[in-house]
Amino acid sequence: MRIIGHGIDIVETSRIARLLDHHPDRFLARCYSDAERAYATDKRRRVEHLAGRFAAKEAVMKALGTGWADGVAWTDISILRGDQGQPHIRLTGQTADLARRIGIDQWWISISHIKTHAVASAIAAGPLSPHG
Ligand SMILES: CC(C)(COP(=O)(O)OP(=O)(O)OC[C@H]1O[C@@H](n2cnc3c(N)ncnc32)[C@H](O)[C@@H]1OP(=O)(O)O)[C@@H](O)C(=O)NCCC(=O)NCCS
Repeated sequence: MRIIGHGIDIVETSRIARLLDHHPDRFLARCYSDAERAYATDKRRRVEHLAGRFAAKEAVMKALGTGWADGVAWTDISILRGDQGQPHIRLTGQTADLARRIGIDQWWISISHIKTHAVASAIAAGPLSPHG
């Protein structure tokens, strides 16, 4: 296994709360997949969950070595949850193509949040050689 990229990000939950207040439909549709929106519905700590996912998406973009550019869409990076609540990512669209092109086939994601802030780290890895 070869580490290809690492990214971290921190998000102020108040920023997410503001976006949700001002443009709820547009913000949710533009930034979150159906699964992410479903997870954060009716949760007591909804803003924190959404902020954690936002930080995770930005961390993934950093690990990919790109910003919010090169055809990378927020909804192409979806943070899913395993049986024990552990986050993992699903890439789609041009973001998945980019990850494949640079040899990424594994991700490790970690998210943490409190009332005021959310942080996330993303590590991207691929095979030792391009041929496995
Ligand atoms: C997983 C755990 C360490 C999370 O720690 P926390 O301080 O409560 O919460 P944090 O804000 O730091 O992290 C929350 C994020 O951790 C991640 N997470 C949750 N379960 C996880 C797991 N099993 N493995 C890895 N990451 C996990 C999620 O991304 C979660 O965010 P989300 O709900 O928005 O998706 C904690 O919930 C835990 O150990 N749970 C099992 C034991 C338990 O229930 N203890 C409670 C009594 S002490």
